[in-house]
Amino acid sequence: MMRAGVALPAFSPGAFTRIFEANDIVKGKSPVEAADDETYWAQIQRAFDDDRTIVNLNNGGVSPTPTHVLESMFRDLKWSNQIPVWHMWQDLEPRIEAVRRDLARMFGCDPEEMAITRNASEANETMILGLDLQRGDEVIITNQNYGRMITTWEQRARREGIVVKKISFKVPPPSDAYIVDQFRAAITPRTRVIELTHITNLTGQILPIRDIVRLGREHNIEVLVDGAHAFAHFPFVRDDLECDYYGTSLHKWLFAPIGTGFLYVKRDKIGKLWPLMAAAESQNDNIRKYEEIGTHPAANHNAIALALAFNKGIGLERKAARLRYLRDRWAKRLLAESPRFNILTPLDDRQSCAICLVNIEGVDTQKLQQWLWGKHKVMTVAIIHPEFHGLRVTPSVYTMPDEVDLFADLMIKAQKQGIAAN
Ligand SMILES: Cc1ncc(COP(=O)(O)O)c(C=O)c1O
Repeated sequence: MMRAGVALPAFSPGAFTRIFEANDIVKGKSPVEAADDETYWAQIQRAFDDDRTIVNLNNGGVSPTPTHVLESMFRDLKWSNQIPVWHMWQDLEPRIEAVRRDLARMFGCDPEEMAITRNASEANETMILGLDLQRGDEVIITNQNYGRMITTWEQRARREGIVVKKISFKVPPPSDAYIVDQFRAAITPRTRVIELTHITNLTGQILPIRDIVRLGREHNIEVLVDGAHAFAHFPFVRDDLECDYYGTSLHKWLFAPIGTGFLYVKRDKIGKLWPLMAAAESQNDNIRKYEEIGTHPAANHNAIALALAFNKGIGLERKAARLRYLRDRWAKRLLAESPRFNILTPLDDRQSCAICLVNIEGVDTQKLQQWLWGKHKVMTVAIIHPEFHGLRVTPSVYTMPDEVDLFADLMIKAQKQGIAAN
């Protein structure tokens, strides 16, 4: 489905139409029924130019983009380079409005509440550094927040004397109510802000955002949501969360080119949230004030439109069902194999999707990661947190079942024979 103003692929229109043709393969099937239809998923795999001599199970960190999305970015970069002052500033840059409109539609907000950023860090730091706070004001975060966001708060504490309270919660948490209770217990009359992840980058735990937003409202506390790993990973819209602030990357789960993200700020909050880079007073209530970042390529953010269309072609329900199918395929096999496998992510739809954390009792997690990559070219990421550890395993829509099977085979080998001699 094409709309006016959306950047179109120039080099491989076949890749774009393929997913719409592929829809016929799964016609009449529910997302769960389509989750293991390899004829359908083979079409999706072909949209990515992947090197099958390696197995990438760290698609949470940053994701490859489909080839036709990358090519549209290349096309726009080349076009810009001919006469940037005209082709980039006058022709391509204004098309950001189509991206804003389409992103807002998918997130379920007004386009006037949607700013395009270069990553989640930029969006989140705008939220964290943009609110006026007084010395002694308190902020609640968790020790499972993303490192750079914790660093940002700690810099504010050093610079302005705000108080950052870091809470902990069990992995896996016993219930949503338990998580909310940890936040509630940390609230004092000085609490002004809560900042937390929608889904943690450590275990892939989905947190009960709406309940925490409601808790914040009861106490006049701003709740800032770091959705870096959530948007386009599993289905939800703004109204499911009821949030006023949301930052995300688009180079993770939307499969947009590297260097893309968004910041959502509810309309009546924009005036009070300062931009990271200065904007004119006349822009005070304008969401575009967060995009006053100086000269930057228009090609990257315009290619978001194609990535959006790609995701729409698959459908988020179908995508999430496939990701959970791939996760369960390896995780449930390991659980059935030996009690030495510890899965630290709850395997239910409400609490997780593609991302899952696993460790093997008695096997060093860091060395296991090095063994998998160094010897077998299977990429995962070692998560070492003071309270837990494990390999974070994240398949994507282009991952083949054979690849997660290979990972499970290797984990079973590591558990049975160790990693020293293999
Ligand atoms: C929870 C979380 N927040 C923020 C970020 C930062 O994202 P980016 O590197 O796109 O700025 C990440 C990156 O992995 C993350 O996992």
